[in-house]
Amino acid sequence: MNNKKVVLVTGGTSGIGFGTIEYLLEQEKYEVISVSRGDKNLSLAKEKLGDNANKVLFLHGDISKEEDCNKIYDEIDSKYGKLDGLVNSAGIIKLGGIEKQTLEEWNNSININLTGIFLLTKTLLPLLKKGTNTSIVNISSMSSKKAGGSIAYCASKAGVDMLTKYMAQELGKYNIRVNSVNPAAVYTNIYVSSGDYTQEGYDKWSEEKAPLYPLGRIGDAKKDLAPTIEFLLSDKTLWTTGAIYLVDGGKSI
Ligand SMILES: NC(=O)c1ccc[n+]([C@@H]2O[C@H](COP(=O)([O-])OP(=O)(O)OC[C@H]3O[C@@H](n4cnc5c(N)ncnc54)[C@H](OP(=O)(O)O)[C@@H]3O)[C@@H](O)[C@H]2O)c1
Repeated sequence: MNNKKVVLVTGGTSGIGFGTIEYLLEQEKYEVISVSRGDKNLSLAKEKLGDNANKVLFLHGDISKEEDCNKIYDEIDSKYGKLDGLVNSAGIIKLGGIEKQTLEEWNNSININLTGIFLLTKTLLPLLKKGTNTSIVNISSMSSKKAGGSIAYCASKAGVDMLTKYMAQELGKYNIRVNSVNPAAVYTNIYVSSGDYTQEGYDKWSEEKAPLYPLGRIGDAKKDLAPTIEFLLSDKTLWTTGAIYLVDGGKSI
């Protein structure tokens, strides 16, 4: 086996997860695994990666389901026997406050965004303990601290920040670091996938939001988020844990 770090990126077929995988492949220091549920994002991701698609182990699974997490464990265990990094990026949003959001929408968001991170990380812990300078990066959101958009989403992300701190405190004894990256708006498929926007509506929304950012634009997954995620995965941050990194173009100032 070469000495590359083995890193699993959930939601690696779209948006921030996909941008992270593209960036990690460019560094040539990582063996990359992706987990997601469906085929549509998967075939698009493979198409965009071209020949590099062969360098990624694409797994199928829903991180909110115990049997899928166990299957993911088995597949990684049999191929690599360890994990040096885990980027918990898989997530969803459905817009609405307490008056509009249904219980089903609430449960979906909490199950995937919060319970999914708990469940997958818990399942993979034996592999993470076998890694070297293991690092877990949870993709939270600026919405963990600022209400707006979706009540379930904001509550789930506030939960992710505490999960980060709790796990950082608990897993330090295994030399496992746990940090959160909290973006403001990043141009991805999240709102079109949820049905909250059409592609045209989302493109217009993205343009309208740009002037609200001190840096004059919303984020790009690969250019603006992936380098911070990779920094936290790398051995440059061996004494950084429990940190909540706002990467938001200055939006929260
Ligand atoms: N975009 C933003 O403005 C923004 C801002 C702040 C934070 N974030 C956070 O960034 C993360 C990534 O979001 P994104 O914007 O990149 O979204 P995206 O483009 O919609 O990508 C989401 C990815 O997660 C996968 N996924 C969703 N549910 C899953 C599940 N239950 N099990 C396994 N995979 C699942 C999707 O593939 P399948 O559907 O095929 O499973 C897809 O690959 C999320 O946690 C989100 O909350 C996004």
